[in-house]
Amino acid sequence: MASKSLPTAKLSTGAEIPMLAYGTGTALFKMSNYDQLDRTTVEYIKTALSLGYYHLDGAELYNTEPEIGVAIKESGIPREKLFITTKVINNISNISAGLDASLKKLGVSHVDLYLIHSPFFTDPVSKEAIQSAWKDMEAIQKSGKAKAIGVSNHLRQHLEYILEIATIKPVINQLEYSPYLQREGIVEWSKERGIVTAAYGPLSPITKARPGPLDPVLEKLAKKYGVCQEAILLRWTMQMGVVVVTTSGICLLMLSQWPKYPRTSSTINPSLSSTLKSDAYSC
Ligand SMILES: NC(=O)c1ccc[n+]([C@@H]2O[C@H](COP(=O)([O-])OP(=O)(O)OC[C@H]3O[C@@H](n4cnc5c(N)ncnc54)[C@H](OP(=O)(O)O)[C@@H]3O)[C@@H](O)[C@H]2O)c1
Repeated sequence: MASKSLPTAKLSTGAEIPMLAYGTGTALFKMSNYDQLDRTTVEYIKTALSLGYYHLDGAELYNTEPEIGVAIKESGIPREKLFITTKVINNISNISAGLDASLKKLGVSHVDLYLIHSPFFTDPVSKEAIQSAWKDMEAIQKSGKAKAIGVSNHLRQHLEYILEIATIKPVINQLEYSPYLQREGIVEWSKERGIVTAAYGPLSPITKARPGPLDPVLEKLAKKYGVCQEAILLRWTMQMGVVVVTTSGICLLMLSQWPKYPRTSSTINPSLSSTLKSDAYSC
């Protein structure tokens, strides 16, 4: 399933999920010409695949599922080596039809992980709607078209609504997460319930929050290990037990730098975590 050199996390289904995923939203999000294949995106995904990013993160909302499908086909990598995640939100009122449409675009018979993109699909958020959508997700898993099911952007209360009625628990909650946004109230709580956290926006301390207290620490660690600063952030996230989703071209380099990485959590974790714990930036 995963590239041999990358770590995996165990889902409550028993499946292994590669802890580093290549995302096809944000920078690659298709905003227009929905029916036209974006060859640039296809090439980015193919590069990611060739470097060993066998976990691809998609969503019907990103309009990039066709590009993922073409990239997979052109890469020649066997389906069983890949871990494909996609998400539903546009078709939340007919999740089964939504997944069928996604599978067709992706050119595969099943996804490895199917997520509800957000709980905010009713205004105000409705417990009944969240629970009803989760029942539809359970039916999806039973159909075999998704090997595992989960959620994204769910706060603790939304997860509680689901757990109240679930016969199959969500395996993952994909959230914005970085050293400046450690979500302490939900990550540990989820772990205790067998729900893995996945991170999007893991590079925010570099891409959105500079200057910040981590800047000198990142610089020092990157120099020490001879890798880019972005890679230090990705490595730290994985060491926190959190699956990482990134779209950074810079981070495509991470796999070639992988052998240089410190192998124990006694190195990066204390440096980043203690910097944050000593000030007001941890939230
Ligand atoms: N579930 C959700 O609601 C949700 C929301 C958002 C995203 N996601 C998923 O997570 C994936 C990753 O999200 P993300 O793109 O926010 O994460 P990210 O990996 O933290 O951000 C990467 C973006 O920042 C840019 N970047 C990297 N270093 C930079 C620097 N030094 N200065 C300025 N920009 C820099 C990258 O461009 P370069 O190529 O130049 O590095 C890339 O576009 C998405 O593609 C999507 O699959 C999910």
